[in-house]
Amino acid sequence: MTAPDPQTAPRQAPEAPPPPIAMLAELTHRCPLSCPYCSNPLELTARSAELSAEEWADAFRQAAALGVLQLHLSGGEPASRRDLEQIVAAAVEAELYTNLITSGVGLTPRRLEALDEIGLDHVQLSLQGVEAGPADQIGGYRGGFARKMEVAREIARIGFPLTINAVMHRRNLDRLEETIELALRLGARRLEVACVQFHGWAMRSRAALLPTREQALRARDVVAEARERLRGVMVIDFVPPDYYAEFPKACMGGWGSTGLNVAPDGRVLPCHAAETIPGLSFDNLRRRPLAEIWLRSEAFAAFRGFDWMEEPCASCERKTRDFGGCRCQAQAMTGRASATDPTCSRSPDRAALDAALREAAEAGAEAPLVPRAPAPG
Ligand code: SF4
Ligand code: FES
Repeated sequence: MTAPDPQTAPRQAPEAPPPPIAMLAELTHRCPLSCPYCSNPLELTARSAELSAEEWADAFRQAAALGVLQLHLSGGEPASRRDLEQIVAAAVEAELYTNLITSGVGLTPRRLEALDEIGLDHVQLSLQGVEAGPADQIGGYRGGFARKMEVAREIARIGFPLTINAVMHRRNLDRLEETIELALRLGARRLEVACVQFHGWAMRSRAALLPTREQALRARDVVAEARERLRGVMVIDFVPPDYYAEFPKACMGGWGSTGLNVAPDGRVLPCHAAETIPGLSFDNLRRRPLAEIWLRSEAFAAFRGFDWMEEPCASCERKTRDFGGCRCQAQAMTGRASATDPTCSRSPDRAALDAALREAAEAGAEAPLVPRAPAPG
């Protein structure tokens, strides 16, 4: 049998990607806190450009039709939207599993009760520290910690399943055991120990926030011990400080493969920090249907699959596990989004990572933090 001539044989259409499982809806960039590790972009969306509740409702219907199962409602602070209840109701109506990602500030007992009645499924509460002084200092919001504790009690009273998201860095990683105990006391079913990822605004405070190697190693051991001890009581997810890892994380489970983000103004992004990659253009829900964006938009196609990869990823046996790491991190540290993530030990750009570690070591524990600037009104 003769092999088909590649010049004349009919071309097979490229395989359509499977539908996304999760959608992150950034309802607003407004936020009462000003955490220096904010991973939102430098340029925030103004309130006047935000999608209306009706536009979000349409987005949720489209997402459900596309195959999305989980909806993460985030920000900024989603409670900054007065119409949050209306937005959640639309998500419930679309039969999506709804998770509210919040700092707790702006959530009153009445609002939480209303959200429960509407059908909100889950709450994820962020934690800046284990006591008021340092937590409020990092969040830039006096009284924030006390407010959060009240909200956590209310969440427990109502009976929402609760995840605590503890953002860890050089200034609080030594208090990891207390963080785990606090999450337990608050009744969390899941704790995310999330070491700061350096995207967007967070890059400005990298030298101050990057944990030391000793802290990173110790955190790994503390998490391992707690996971064993708390088996069946509380699940602990761990996002380690990847600057000390041997291999990078599989960011987004692979670009354009499992999830999508919708920015407050309706732009659809393959990941939270995709805007930091120059040259990518993003379609907007206001102008193109979500399914078409998922299947055909230029930004989603840019790093889908493996064809875009440079060496050493292109011929690496791990590429189907980590997808070459994080595109936004590669961009931030090498200036090329298609480069191997420099947190990989096989990356030819490890010098960029070593320079960041040196800079952090030289800056010391007192390196300045740059509080997040607020979104325009
Ligand atoms: Fe992953 Fe690329 Fe490193 Fe291989 S070379 S382990 S694919 S990041
Ligand atoms: Fe964009 Fe990792 S944050 S690919």
